[in-house]
Amino acid sequence: MRIVLGVGGGIAAYKVASLLRLFTEAGHDVTVIPTEAATRFVGVATWEALSGHPVSNSVFDAVHTVNHVRLGHEAELIVVAPATADLLARAATGQADDLLTNTLLMAGDCPVLMAPAMHTEMWQHPATEANVETLRSRGVTVLEPASGRLTGADSGPGRLPEPEAIFTAAMALAGAEAAAANASATSGAMPAVDPDVTTALAAVPAAAQSAVTPLAGLTVTISAGGTREPLDPVRFLGNRSSGKQGVALAAAARDAGARVRLLAAHMEVPAPAGVEIVQVETALELREAALHAAADSDVVIMAAAVADFRPADVAGTKIKKRDDVADPMINLVRNPDILRELVEVRDAASRNQLIVGFAAETGDAGGDVLDYARAKLHRKACDLLVVNQVGRDLVFGEDTNTVVILSRDGSEPQEASGSKSDVAAAVIDRISAELSRAVPPA
Ligand code: CTP
Repeated sequence: MRIVLGVGGGIAAYKVASLLRLFTEAGHDVTVIPTEAATRFVGVATWEALSGHPVSNSVFDAVHTVNHVRLGHEAELIVVAPATADLLARAATGQADDLLTNTLLMAGDCPVLMAPAMHTEMWQHPATEANVETLRSRGVTVLEPASGRLTGADSGPGRLPEPEAIFTAAMALAGAEAAAANASATSGAMPAVDPDVTTALAAVPAAAQSAVTPLAGLTVTISAGGTREPLDPVRFLGNRSSGKQGVALAAAARDAGARVRLLAAHMEVPAPAGVEIVQVETALELREAALHAAADSDVVIMAAAVADFRPADVAGTKIKKRDDVADPMINLVRNPDILRELVEVRDAASRNQLIVGFAAETGDAGGDVLDYARAKLHRKACDLLVVNQVGRDLVFGEDTNTVVILSRDGSEPQEASGSKSDVAAAVIDRISAELSRAVPPA
């Protein structure tokens, strides 16, 4: 695989020499592009010797090869480490003032992974947070920095993840992209993961893998958005689900290293890059897609708002107003409970699979939100139920969310709140924890 390794100007640049070695030893062809500041920490000669390629950070070197266009076009994976606050800002705002930022702008569909490293204050500054959010919304995988001792006496989140962990995340990302590309080329058939990626993953210590990509090697199916139940060729019964929470979950599962399949009903937001999309419209279509996808999934998350009922009859032509007959009545029939069915199929097949449901609940005189949610968890028999506390601020379409995660094993309810990405990260963390409890490491 042709990899571009961008190196930012931080002290952690020295660790990236080990990352480069991991890439080249796994057989990849790596071109290093350090920023001007990076060369103050590690010199060009080191990058040239380790990569076996000439190294430059200027768009005016090797002009005859049109480097700033070629490198971005030819790259199959771009990894930036350490991604400094400055580099994240320049990438987020689309600047092109050196060879690395030019290459990022020319990268097209190529998967991009950034491994930030900086002081905690810089990482937690709203400007950096906004830049990271922008990059992630464009499909860039921005890893969370590790926590620990930083350059000075300070410590906290901001350390560059270990080279093995970045390597694993990069390989998982390239594998997920290849799988998605393969899948769209083979009309829905799920592809095998690139054997090079599998070999590379196997070579990485388990501890390093689980640090950043706890779902590496696993397939996660997530439904998102609201189903639409047709009445006639132009009308449907729908709901207000925006799909934002399901999309955030898909991005979080992808960033955790999983191969992700998104069963997308009607959504108001674009699907994230690097996941396989299966488009559905009705509850019945979603049921078919979910049962099919679940057959080889390790985790299934039903975040879609599924219509409980559909019109009993769908008119083949547009229903017209007529003065000579009574106005039409809509008869509804019940849709199957997909979540419940997924659990039944899994149990009948004794499959090792974690199934997660979502529920929006309100309390009333008969019980509070958690009473109703526990009853629903019991009815649906899924492993985890993520409960939206629907109050005055309806969750539909909002960017923030507060949830309680209930577990069938009766453990203490866990609360999570914040942006839908924060909630998604908490849900994916909880899923990772459940999986590692179910299968203790060898
Ligand atoms: N769900 C499903 N199939 C349905 C309805 C819901 O799989 N026909 C899933 C949703 O994706 C969600 C969970 O079940 O993960 C709970 O959805 P909710 O609408 O709260 O549950 P209902 O069974 O419809 O319960 P209620 O009567 O409270 O609407």
